Amino acid sequence: MKKTKGIVLAGGNGTRLYPATSGINKHLLQVYDKPMIYYPISTLMLSGIRDILIISSEYDLEKFSKILGNGDQFGVTFSYTVQTEPKGIAEAFIIAEEFIGEDQVCLILGDNLIYGKLNFLRDALNSNNGGYIFAYEVNNPQDFGVVTLGKDGTIIDITEKPINPQSNYAIPGIYIFDSNVVKYAKTLTPSKRNEIEITDLQKIYLSNGNLQCNIIGRGIAWLDTGTPAGLLDAGLFIHTIENRQGRKIACLEEIAVNNEYISIDFFREITEKLPDCKYKNYLLSIIKSKFD
Ligand code: DAU
Repeated sequence: MKKTKGIVLAGGNGTRLYPATSGINKHLLQVYDKPMIYYPISTLMLSGIRDILIISSEYDLEKFSKILGNGDQFGVTFSYTVQTEPKGIAEAFIIAEEFIGEDQVCLILGDNLIYGKLNFLRDALNSNNGGYIFAYEVNNPQDFGVVTLGKDGTIIDITEKPINPQSNYAIPGIYIFDSNVVKYAKTLTPSKRNEIEITDLQKIYLSNGNLQCNIIGRGIAWLDTGTPAGLLDAGLFIHTIENRQGRKIACLEEIAVNNEYISIDFFREITEKLPDCKYKNYLLSIIKSKFD
């Protein structure tokens, strides 16, 4: 795989979830049985990305680092950087300038949850030649960045939360860019809502002729957990699948051991340190299955 750095953007004010977010960062809220941020991290890890920067407010970063540490237990590297104010998603690339260096970067929003076979993402990481976005059919496109595609799949237009959307294709909060993204992000000016918009960044790549867009089929679930209803739907979705299969979604320790990011001995060591709980029992059952 092309060397790719990962960013999880987990700042913002979480105003749409107020008062649930009045004392806690949205991405630490629970989606069924684990903190929301586990899900986007799992997406990066499952696509082979192991060098991950977490961006949030100064106040919240301490809590993230308490939960996630330096990543050793998951066989990845977590670093942390502050976004002083939520000035827009595109600002993540300016903040991450040093971290990105000369590498390709994949940014995932901390409130986006993707479930299903991630081949579409791995393929995109390998074939990206500039910027890469995805399109996903939804029944409320006006709530998202929207992409209009021509019959041959070419990108005709990109608009942030259009009042009259020209298509039902929302742009999920996962984006791949080459390292030029930092330079381009610095040229952006704030929108009416006073943010530097991720869609404006996409438009720069589009006008340069090197933005690709791939439709993610309905076999994949893309859920946005940023509203009370969205959060509940996501929790129920995770519960339903986990309960049916007896397997966990976004269990970072399991992903780490299955992908050989950590050894089974180390997996056992970290499992034994966990307090007695169902999560620990699940990890113990994985150890048992590996030796059966
Ligand atoms: O979910 C996908 C959508 O995310 C895209 O389709 C849109 O193009 C994109 O603008 C974004 O729309 P939202 O209105 O959902 O963005 P929101 O302000 O809710 O922020 C998304 C995540 O990024 C959320 O987890 C908070 C975080 N964030 C946001 C901003 C603006 C930050 O950490 N810092 C920020 O400055």
